[in-house]
This record gives sequence, structure tokens and C-alpha cells, in this order.
Amino acid sequence: MKLPSELVQPLNEQLNRELYAQYLYLTMASYFLEQDYRGFGAFFLKQSREEGAHAMRLFHYLMERSIPFHPLPIEIPPKNYDSPLACFKAAHEYEQKVTLSYYNLLKRARDIGEYDLEEFLYWYIREQREEEALMHTWMEKLNKVKDDIAAILFLDKEAGEAAEKEE
Ligand code: FEO
Repeated sequence: MKLPSELVQPLNEQLNRELYAQYLYLTMASYFLEQDYRGFGAFFLKQSREEGAHAMRLFHYLMERSIPFHPLPIEIPPKNYDSPLACFKAAHEYEQKVTLSYYNLLKRARDIGEYDLEEFLYWYIREQREEEALMHTWMEKLNKVKDDIAAILFLDKEAGEAAEKEE
């Protein structure tokens, strides 16, 4: 069944948001790695790879349903943050924004009776819940330790071990 034309651009924009997330997390990884926070760096490298996989999943959906792919410009992410906490806060905010965009897309698919797209999008809704929770957990940990550098280094190590374990 052909996808209604009014959903073509929103789906392409969603793919672009995933590509931006990949680029954003790669930039965040560089923010940490350049300061020798290897654990947080590994964490964001892993998140960046996951976002790339999200984008590919959308791309394959477009191809499977003969929906045209529209290349769109990818915004340049910020490079610097005031602190590790500020960086995780920004990541959490972006995930919330992406979740909202999936809700909007899902609503449009449902209103139009696009049940295949609706079913496809539920995977992303679940994934967003996990990612928001993950960013929130790290944000809270960093919030608790404030400027205690020894504690931040301990969390950096923990983040690295967690990223390695989940590979
Ligand atoms: Fe795939 Fe977290 O956006």
C-alpha cells in the first residue's frame, strides 16, 4: 500500500533527526575524549553508533515501502559544554525532543489509518523510553557528585565499563 504523500517529508525529517543524533553524540564523545574522559567518551561513541542504526532502520523502511529518500542538511552540533553534567543534560533534552517528534508522527499515522507505519513506529517509542531513562540516570549521578573530580572520574570509569559490557 502506498504511503500517503503528506507523510513522506515527516518520515525523511525523522531520519534526519536520527542522523543528527548520531552526529551530536559523536561530537559529545569528542568533548569527553579530548579531556581524557575515556569512559564517557566510549559511552557516547556507543550511543552514536546506536543512533546511526536507528537512521538505517528508517532508511530501510523507506526503501521497503518505495518511499522516496530526501537528503536533508545535518545541523552542526555544539562542540563545548560547561561540564559533563551539562553535556548529559543536553543529550537528555535532545532525546525528549526526539520522543515528542515520534509521538507526533505516530499520531499522524494513526489519524490517517497508516497501520503499518504505526506498528513500525512503536519500536522507536520503546527505544526512546530506554534512551531517555539512560540519559536521565547519568544526569542524576553527575548531579549528585557536583564538582567532586574524584567522583566524576569514578563515574567516567563506570560509564566506560558499562559501554564495554553492552557491546
Ligand atoms: Fe534514535 Fe535516541 O533517537
